[in-house]
Amino acid sequence: MIICKTISLLKLQLNLIKEKQLSIGFVPTMGALHEGHLSLVRASISQNDCTVCSIFVNPTQFNNQEDYNKYPNTITHDIYQLELAGCSILFLPDVEEIYPEGILSNKKYNLDYLETVLEGKFRPNHFQGVCQIVEKLLVIVEPNQLFLGQKDYQQCMVIEKLIELMDKKREIELEIIPTIREKTGLAMSSRNARLNETEKENATAIFKAMVHIKNYLNEKNFDELEKEANELLQKNGFEKIDYIKICNASDLQEVHSRKSNQKLVVLIAGFLNGVRLIDNMQLI
Ligand code: PAF
Repeated sequence: MIICKTISLLKLQLNLIKEKQLSIGFVPTMGALHEGHLSLVRASISQNDCTVCSIFVNPTQFNNQEDYNKYPNTITHDIYQLELAGCSILFLPDVEEIYPEGILSNKKYNLDYLETVLEGKFRPNHFQGVCQIVEKLLVIVEPNQLFLGQKDYQQCMVIEKLIELMDKKREIELEIIPTIREKTGLAMSSRNARLNETEKENATAIFKAMVHIKNYLNEKNFDELEKEANELLQKNGFEKIDYIKICNASDLQEVHSRKSNQKLVVLIAGFLNGVRLIDNMQLI
């Protein structure tokens, strides 16, 4: 695997690949890699000639400085895992390389409704920061395919919208890969590294709550199900629950009762011992 720390070095490598008309799959990450990320890398490898992974903890998408400072860094292990998986190129820039003029930007991405609900509501400007970095990375890498994890359901929708808004040289195909879970149901996440064993056990309450909602979808009303899920999380030590919402799977509009043929998703975000966890599950 070739490791490029600068844009110019990466572009040199990418030009060689593009000259040979080889396809490029791209997996953007913030490091602290786990099986979820590696499943994206493997999917990219199986569908492309060359896979580029980026590791960059993007300061502009954190609305909480402490969360940014505490973001886990396991770079030596990450490099080893990527090598083992067969990744072709790792882009590993520092903040100055990506934001030579500083992190402030006047650019505003028009994300409409998507930015006003759920993560958009509870993490002001988070998605603007995500768009800022993902656009930069896509302009640099110019991949044929972009691989994202379904665990960040709303982020996938935001990036889909970003791709529509971007002026690109060629189409970028978005591939969304299912969430990878521990045996307990806990969704794999870099933030899990900040939980001890008891907290990890308690964190499975998110999965249990989603399964409960799915199981009783036809029997109970949605407000009651959301309330029961909330109680389950509180009982397991979640000190703050940002949201538990059943939404239309295609536009994230909140839904209060079941209508036929409507695909639904439940989305949850809550804090366990100061660690913010999110997850989602398609219901029908
Ligand atoms: O999902 C993430 O890890 C990040 O939001 C992303 C897409 C790499 C942008 O920094």
